[in-house]
Amino acid sequence: MPATNRFSAYLVSKDEKGACHGEVRTDLALDQLPAGELLIRVECSSINYKDALSATGNPGVTKQYPHIPGIDAVGTVEADQSGRFRPGAPVIVTGYRFGMDHWGGFAQYVRIPAEWAVPLPAGLSPVESMRLGTAGFTAALAVDAILTRERHRAGGPVLVTGATGGVAMVAIALLAKLGCPVTAITRKEAARGRLRQLGAQEVLTPEQLETSDKPLLKERWSGVVDTIGGAGLEYLLKTTAAGGVVTTCGMAAGNTFSASVFPFILRGVSLAGIDSAAQPAGNRERIWGLLAGEWKVDLEPICSEIGLDGINGCVREILAGTHVGRTVVKL
Ligand SMILES: NC(=O)c1ccc[n+]([C@@H]2O[C@H](COP(=O)([O-])OP(=O)(O)OC[C@H]3O[C@@H](n4cnc5c(N)ncnc54)[C@H](OP(=O)(O)O)[C@@H]3O)[C@@H](O)[C@H]2O)c1
Repeated sequence: MPATNRFSAYLVSKDEKGACHGEVRTDLALDQLPAGELLIRVECSSINYKDALSATGNPGVTKQYPHIPGIDAVGTVEADQSGRFRPGAPVIVTGYRFGMDHWGGFAQYVRIPAEWAVPLPAGLSPVESMRLGTAGFTAALAVDAILTRERHRAGGPVLVTGATGGVAMVAIALLAKLGCPVTAITRKEAARGRLRQLGAQEVLTPEQLETSDKPLLKERWSGVVDTIGGAGLEYLLKTTAAGGVVTTCGMAAGNTFSASVFPFILRGVSLAGIDSAAQPAGNRERIWGLLAGEWKVDLEPICSEIGLDGINGCVREILAGTHVGRTVVKL
């Protein structure tokens, strides 16, 4: 517990015109934290797309300001009124409403319901867990959905869209580690080499993809990790092989698409929605266990580290679509 009861955080406030401004504050008091059984001293957080939306006033993510974003945190338990965790236990917090309408991980302290935390698994350091963060957890859910639902194990490539983003880069590394050939799609020509180093066998730009009004196209992918959503999902469904699985988790390119039923009824293609926030505790611990063990990947080459004062710049990059990889926030 800080002797002065004060802590530092990145606080976003809304001005009278409705514009949001994020700033580093060093004068916040523990009794300003929201209610919850579990008080955690945060060691690191990480930046995700949702944090950029929360930091800039997107009402679909955060309605009440002032607000502390940060949908990820790792740290040690200071106190737990539920009795679930002992003081000093290392824990990870992701999902639920953390960092959305509940103050999040861009702060030296967080207070949350105890059920939102999972033990930091042996095999992952705090920094490694935040190199993954919600992006890595989501990538693992998508890979898990493809591996468990894809019916024919045709061994065809898995396609990953928005390839230089956090979810996508972790997905590429995971799939490569698991022996799945990966095709990556990025708008950033300059990132080709980096994506190949990460494990992509083929790197394409969106312009290289076939366009056609036909309801079905040549079967190309046994699975898809789609992180961008929008109209392109129709193409992904049309080109997925029989029995394949298209996972959808993001919407940087849009939140609607149109499609025919043919990929579903003539090829048995499945569309699997990925919702990392609402995973039950058992599955949360299973996925983190995989990420700490047989699915462990070295993400250091695609990660950078910043302090609270670097968050505004990172938010701008994410919203401009120029951010690459994962950024850990050290508290
Ligand atoms: N469902 C869930 O539980 C869940 C969990 C985590 C994240 N998400 C969502 O998944 C998506 C990816 O998250 P992230 O943290 O990986 O984000 P990120 O690091 O910002 O990456 C997004 C990537 O999408 C591509 N992109 C950005 N703007 C685009 C646009 N206007 N049109 C087409 N492509 C665009 C870019 O890749 P290229 O430049 O390489 O093409 C970018 O690197 C976000 O929408 C996020 O909200 C969902």
